[in-house]
Parts: sequence; C-alpha cells; structure tokens
Amino acid sequence: MCGIVGYIGNKQACEIILKGLKRLEYRGYDSAGVALLNGDLRVYKKQGKVLDLEESLNGKNIEGTIGMGHTRWATHGEPNDKNAHPHQSPTGDLSVIHNGIIENYATLKEGLLQRGHTFKSDTDTEVLIHLIEDIMKNANLSLQDAVRAALSQVVGAYAIVILSKNHPEHLIAARKGSPLVVGIGTDRGEFFLASDATPIVEYTNQVIYIKDGEIAIIENKELTIKTIDNVIQTPYIQELEMNLEQLEKGGYPHFMLKEIYEQPKSIFDSFRGRIDGRTGNINMRSVRDYQEKLSKVNRLILIGCGTSWHAGLVAEYLFEDLARVPVEVEYASEFRYRNPVIYPDDLIISISQSGETADTLAAMELAKQKGATVFGVCNVVGSSIPRLSHGGAYTHAGPEIGVASTKAFTAQVTVLTLYALAMAKQRETLSSSRIKQLVKEMEAIPKKVEQALKLNDKIYKIAELYKDAKNFLYLGRGYNFPVALEGALKLKEISYIHAEGYPAAEMKHGPIALIDEEMPVVVIATNNEHYEKLVSNIQEVKARKGKVIAIVTEGNTGLNELADHVIEVPETENCLSPIINTIPLQLLSYHIAVMRECNVDQPRNLAKSVTVE
Ligand code: M6R
Repeated sequence: MCGIVGYIGNKQACEIILKGLKRLEYRGYDSAGVALLNGDLRVYKKQGKVLDLEESLNGKNIEGTIGMGHTRWATHGEPNDKNAHPHQSPTGDLSVIHNGIIENYATLKEGLLQRGHTFKSDTDTEVLIHLIEDIMKNANLSLQDAVRAALSQVVGAYAIVILSKNHPEHLIAARKGSPLVVGIGTDRGEFFLASDATPIVEYTNQVIYIKDGEIAIIENKELTIKTIDNVIQTPYIQELEMNLEQLEKGGYPHFMLKEIYEQPKSIFDSFRGRIDGRTGNINMRSVRDYQEKLSKVNRLILIGCGTSWHAGLVAEYLFEDLARVPVEVEYASEFRYRNPVIYPDDLIISISQSGETADTLAAMELAKQKGATVFGVCNVVGSSIPRLSHGGAYTHAGPEIGVASTKAFTAQVTVLTLYALAMAKQRETLSSSRIKQLVKEMEAIPKKVEQALKLNDKIYKIAELYKDAKNFLYLGRGYNFPVALEGALKLKEISYIHAEGYPAAEMKHGPIALIDEEMPVVVIATNNEHYEKLVSNIQEVKARKGKVIAIVTEGNTGLNELADHVIEVPETENCLSPIINTIPLQLLSYHIAVMRECNVDQPRNLAKSVTVE
C-alpha cells in the first residue's frame, strides 16, 4: 500500500525522505515522489522504484529542510508519472500525499469541474487538494480550517500530509482509516511523519500514533494534535520497541529468507514469559483480565485475511480440539458486509500481522458495535488493531518486511495455541498433565524448527526440478489442511505459479481431474490419525502419474517407494505440527521464486499491509 514520509527540522529533508521511502518499499508500490519546500514548493515524481526517482533527481534543486515523500500503490488511475504523488493544487501553492481511497471523489470532482477546475491526473487525491484550495479561496479560510472543512466532506479512508508554499514552517497531516505515525526528533522542532515506524526508527524512538479523525499540525517548531472538529488532544508518546538491525537484511539475500530463518527465535519470543513447561503454567494477561467473560464464551469467531486467515483456520482445530469451544473462521472482508449474527457471549479474535488491514479493522468495528468482546492477535506494536481491541496478545515476531508472511504466521499460530491451552485449562477440557505435556512440547518447538531449517539443501534440489511447473497442488488433512492452503498461497504470491490448497479427501471431488505427469502435488503426511488415508490419496495421485512431494515425520520410510520426494520433519504433537510443517513449504516457495527470478520481497501487485478495501 501507499507509503508516506514527512520531515520538518534542521536537516536536509530529501535524503531523509528517500531513505524513509526505501524503508517503506516492502509495503508494495508502483511509483514514487517527493515535494520539498524551500521558498518555493518543488514536486518530483516518477513511475517505478524509489531508485528511479532518486536518479531522476540528479542535477535538480533538492534543497529544503521541510518535505514529504510518497510511494503509490495504484487504486484510482494506472501507475504512471502523472498519477504519482504528490499532487498539487491549481495554483501550485499546495501539495498533498495520500494513502487511502476517497470514495466520494467523483461527486467532489463534479462540483469542482463545475467551478472551473481542471485536473492533471486520474486520481482521487488530486481532487482533495483542489477542494482544499477551493475552500480557502471561496470561503476565505485559513489552511488549517480549509483542511478540516475539506476532510469533513470526504467519505473514505485517508492518511495525508500537506505542504503549503505560503506556510514555510508548517506541515499538516491527518488520518482516518489509514495509518500515520509522528516521530519526535531529538532537535527541538524536528518531526518525522510516516505510514509506519520503519522510516523513523533510526532517528528517534519517541512516537505518537495519530488516531482516526485527528489532525497533526506542526507549526513554529511545535506539534499540536486536534480532532477534525478543532478540539485539542493530549498526545500519547510511545516508545518504539523495534531497532534498526531488525529492519536490515543481515547478510541474507532477501528479507523473506531472513525471516524464515528467524523463526526459531520469533516462535520463542512469542511464547517467552507466557508458558512454563516445568509447571504447565500459561500466563496470558488477556485471559486473566477477561477470566469471567472467557469462562462464559459459547463461540469464538476468528477473523483475518490471507495468511492471518490461515492462522485462524489452524486455531479452529486447536480451540475445538483442546478447549471444546465452537469456532467459526471468517474472511474479514466477507464478515463485515454479511450482517453476521453475534451473541453477547461470543468472543471475536482478530488476527493480523500489520494491525492495519482495512477489512479486518472494519470487521472488528462491526463486531464491537454488535456488543461483542474483541481480542487482537497482532504483530505490529501500537498499530490500529490492538488499539481497537478490548484485549489480546502481541505475537512479538519482530518486523516482517517480506510481503510474503512467514514468521508472523508461525508466531500467530503459537499465540493462538497458547490461548487454546489457556481456555482448555480454564474449562478443564484437558487434564493438567496433558496441558503440561503440550506446554513442554511447545517449548521444544524452536529447536525442532531449527532442525527443519536444515532441510534447506534438499528442498533447494526439489525446487530446481519443479521451478517451471505451471500448477501445484497442496494437500493436507485436519490440522494440516490450513498448512496446505498456506503453502499454496506462499508459492503463488511470490513465484506466480498457480497453486491450490485442498483438504486431501476433497481431491477426488474435483482437483483430481487436473492430475497428470506435469502436476507436482505436495502432501503433508506427518504422523497422525489421517496418515493411512493420506497414503491412499498419494496412491491416487501416483496412479495418474502426478509427482508427489511428501512431508513426513522423521524416521518414516513408508513413503520412500511411493512418493517422488520425501521430506522428513521432526516429530511433534499433531496439534503443534502446523508450525513445523510450514517451514519446508516456505523454503520451497522461496527457492522456486528466486530461481524464476521473481522479486521475492516485493511481489508484483501485492502490498504488505492492505490499508484499503
Ligand atoms: O497484516 P495482515 O496479517 O492483516 O495481512 C493479511 C494479508 O494481507 C496477508 O497475510 C497476505 O495474505 C500476505 N501477503 C500473505 O503472505
């Protein structure tokens, strides 16, 4: 999604902004631009990467200690130079960058066209800056008041930053539905603005997350936060947890690979301090705080999108199996528009890496309006989802930069397992000794993931054989059906190979028609009650000459003759096996994508956090 960076202070803004935009590249984008204020207001923008923009700035005047930059992920209007941000007002005195969608832009544009405005781009954003200048002129309002007046006419989502040639010490920003963070610099009057904290972290760890409906005004070295109705707010200054090292590749060729290899640590961090294998204790603050509510919960509704939805599917098995609570798992985008039936004794768990996914946020808001208690399981500290939740838990996986989610998924599954175990304890659906056994095994998972990562060379060789496949099928059952879905998603999003995940038993109800000697089929066949049935499914694939890549439990040689490739992963409890079984699938997608020369960390058309509908 679009990325925003702003700077006001004593340093040269352009360098800080370009560096910040590079840090935001992981969000996904197709063009970039900057606006710099130094007597006049200069705007430079370009389709392509930040590097293309940087090269185009050679020889240009880039002086100025106030400025803003943007990476655009096209929504309204194709990706090209003219649609790139910043956009300017008719006089060129004002400039804006925007993340979000102005849903009523056509109506607003119509009014402006009737008043003689002409537009240079196809974007909704240009309409907004025209509207602000139009209001300033016709209603004779100050910039600040005109911004508030214009925003009160806007339907949709936005995070915006505005520069004005006639207000050289000024920077105005506002948010509704799209994220925006202010960093407080070390020099007096130095402030940073960004879509998330990654461009800010190397300058300061003091940040303020702007809330929906708030406007930040930086004027004469002071920051004021107001509501759109002009009520002054007391900002809450937060200390950032992330550090610069976490945002760099650390010797790995791609963030995705680094993040895959970080999993022994990120999984450990997600349960650190929350479980104790010696006693079987599970210590989740939200479970303590909502003890009474949880004891009465009759149904869990898990919501998320993409990989986070897959984590929800794994959790469906966990909560039903361990805690005997009925569970529904919903795509946030469907849930929010379905007028769902929600009872007061439902608990909604909203799962998200970024904490900013627009559909997930809207689904949570709906659930809250209907009186439900909402928990968030989220990775990004201070993001919108945890702030909107009644309770919940951070996954503590550290910043995930690769667009394809890897360590965030295993951390989500880990935290959801802890919730399931805590509820099992509370409801006495498992004996204390069984809980202790599972907690102990959870503590052993990071080491087992480390072992699974040693399969890398073998998986690389398998990737070489199938890198040119046109399709892939992933099969799993029970706890590992969502793992099959996740494996297929990982492959398609980064390698652009069409892939489907299926519950293995469903194969004969349709997908089996696709199987021929060209079709690689990844079967997750680790030891559990479904194993024999999965062997039958493998037989069915082989009878049609499909190529089988089987993930089996270490020591199982039963498939050596039947499958084309056997990948042995460490043994664990069935309910914890999704965490381990995901690892070889992540590595397989990664290697195939690299071999196909795909942009692994920033796959085409994809955004890291989807902050628009
Ligand atoms: O930040 P979130 O977890 O809410 O994001 C949800 C999805 O957009 C995300 O998981 C997406 O599917 C990833 N590209 C998957 O790798």
